[in-house]
Amino acid sequence: MQNRENFGSNTVAIMALAGSAIGLGNIWRFPYMVGEHGGAAFIVIYLLASLLLSLPIMMSETVIGRRSHSNTFGAMRSLAPGSKWHYLGLLTVISPLIILSYYSVVGGWSIDYLLRSLTGSFLNKDASLLSAEFAGAISSPLKPIIFQTVFLLACALVVSAGVKSGIERFNKLTIPLLFVLILAIMIYSLTLPGAMRGVEYLVKPDFSKITPSTVSYAVGQSFFSLSLGVGTVLTYSSYIGKRENILMSGLGTTVFDLLFALIAGFAIMPAVFAAGIEPGAGPGLIFETLPFIFSSMGEATPILSSVVAVLFFVTICVAALTSAISMYEVGVAYLVEEKGVGRKKAVWLLFAGIWALGALCSLSFGALSGVKLFGLTIFNFCDTLTSNFLMMFGALLFVLFAGWKMKKGDVRDEFSNGGKFKFNDAVFGTFYFLLKYVAPVGMVMIFVTNFIGS
Ligand code: PFF
Repeated sequence: MQNRENFGSNTVAIMALAGSAIGLGNIWRFPYMVGEHGGAAFIVIYLLASLLLSLPIMMSETVIGRRSHSNTFGAMRSLAPGSKWHYLGLLTVISPLIILSYYSVVGGWSIDYLLRSLTGSFLNKDASLLSAEFAGAISSPLKPIIFQTVFLLACALVVSAGVKSGIERFNKLTIPLLFVLILAIMIYSLTLPGAMRGVEYLVKPDFSKITPSTVSYAVGQSFFSLSLGVGTVLTYSSYIGKRENILMSGLGTTVFDLLFALIAGFAIMPAVFAAGIEPGAGPGLIFETLPFIFSSMGEATPILSSVVAVLFFVTICVAALTSAISMYEVGVAYLVEEKGVGRKKAVWLLFAGIWALGALCSLSFGALSGVKLFGLTIFNFCDTLTSNFLMMFGALLFVLFAGWKMKKGDVRDEFSNGGKFKFNDAVFGTFYFLLKYVAPVGMVMIFVTNFIGS
């Protein structure tokens, strides 16, 4: 493809991939999962899952993307011409768009709460009042849809500016900022009286909480957090130049994502415990509990605590945006490269579809709460369908493609940039073994567990 843009460097590629990875999954879901599933024991399983399953899958998508320099559909068509693999390309155009529709609803809530934190609206309210306010905010028919629209518009603007001027520039600016913000919040949290109980909660292993399904949760969390199986890693990797070392891109992204999740854990849980609140489940933690904590903890330093509340919601908004942009780009790359649609037009065509499904997801907290698909509300259905099935299925197929469909020599060639980067045979051998056998078998087991469990 002639006029295809590439990221300026591998560092920028890692920032973009980390931007996709770092999101609500790290800030809200990870700390809560760690606490619920055995603290440090869960972290060990999570690390193993990331190393044995997620990393090979991430590398599969990276290899496929960089080798084909194409969108998900085009990648399958060019690397496996005349086969049925292009259906995987199509599936992974659709699944990130479904995720984006409900993700943009939560992105909208974050903007709403950023505005509330700016106006000090959490001050002097108790936890039950804030809970009631949250329930009211998400079930109202119009306001959340307006905020969801604003969130999607922001994504659309970045994506329509292109790979270099839009996506690259935005991530280069925001990823360092996100790390600075979350570190600042962590330092504040750790200084609160009683914070150490939160630290204990995260680091103390509780093996009694480890059940067979813990592994499934750890794998699911790792996939969601690294944005695997939905073509975002593939699409971003297709913008990595031929001279870059993609092993570094995959490793760098995984390390940044993990680091951010851990820092977020140490930013949130100490504050939760300092306020004497048991960590609750669901979106409630960031939208009900934390506003209360951040505004009430600061009796001695009310201004500082309000500033921290604002910074916290800025972090959530920006992290959600960088992830959402990556999902948007998958569909845009497909329409531009496969259907010959101009980038701007592709952005607005997709906008209409994502917005409409997102609005239905939003309404499923209020007016459409009675509409059920397989017993789930529209929002929960989109979430379960993608997180439990489509992501897993896509990830399994990507790893099978790289391990069984592509030639071993081609995979090695991509890793070593045609032999330019020398690495030990045993390193590649181990890695290829994980890719070819361990990851697919592990994935099938998790997939079956999820299927039976749902
Ligand atoms: N990794 C993102 C998070 O942790 O919030 C979520 C995500 C982004 C999932 C992009 C899927 C995706 F394609």
